[in-house]
Amino acid sequence: MDSSDFLGFLTRRSSVREYDGRPLTDEEITNILKCASTAPSAGNLEAWDVIVVNGEDTRLALAEVAYGQQHLEQAPVIFVVCSNYVRSMSRYGERGILYALEDATIACTYMMLAAHAMDIHSCWTGAFDDDGVREVLDLPQHIRPIALLALGRGNPPAHLTGRMEVGEHVHRETW
Ligand SMILES: Cc1cc2nc3c(=O)[nH]c(=O)nc-3n(C[C@H](O)[C@H](O)[C@H](O)COP(=O)(O)O)c2cc1C
Repeated sequence: MDSSDFLGFLTRRSSVREYDGRPLTDEEITNILKCASTAPSAGNLEAWDVIVVNGEDTRLALAEVAYGQQHLEQAPVIFVVCSNYVRSMSRYGERGILYALEDATIACTYMMLAAHAMDIHSCWTGAFDDDGVREVLDLPQHIRPIALLALGRGNPPAHLTGRMEVGEHVHRETW
């Protein structure tokens, strides 16, 4: 794949919030997770964990603590991607908090793009009540949920979302 193919691949992805109920196979789920495990991480500590949620009761409970977002109710699978503070802080102290957030965010990005490569749709979902998710999944205190990645197959929106001009992000030499 050359760089313009890669840009095309990225540009064709969009968040999908309507799913038609087709499940993901175990093999697809495993492939996505294997891709995520290739992600870089601070000190190669991989300070992230993921809870794979298939069960309907748990998915509905997650949707509820995510302010009733319906795509979470519909998605056949939700990956709850978490930062593992202990894994990172044991080497990096306070800085490990930041690294664990970064590690989990990168891993989640890899999952989202791996799914896209497999023609599986997703929606990164960050609006949820942390304590609510903790309670639903019985998470220990050192585990922070950072994203509910809804996965399924469905209807991409008719129009892709726009972006700022690249130059609006870019500063050269100094701010
Ligand atoms: C950190 C983060 C949090 C997000 N939270 C939500 C969310 O709670 N609900 C939702 O429907 N989409 C959520 N999204 C998806 C964004 O709305 C979406 O990525 C953005 O509008 C760009 O659209 P696109 O993904 O289709 O390119 C989130 C995305 C990110 C990266």
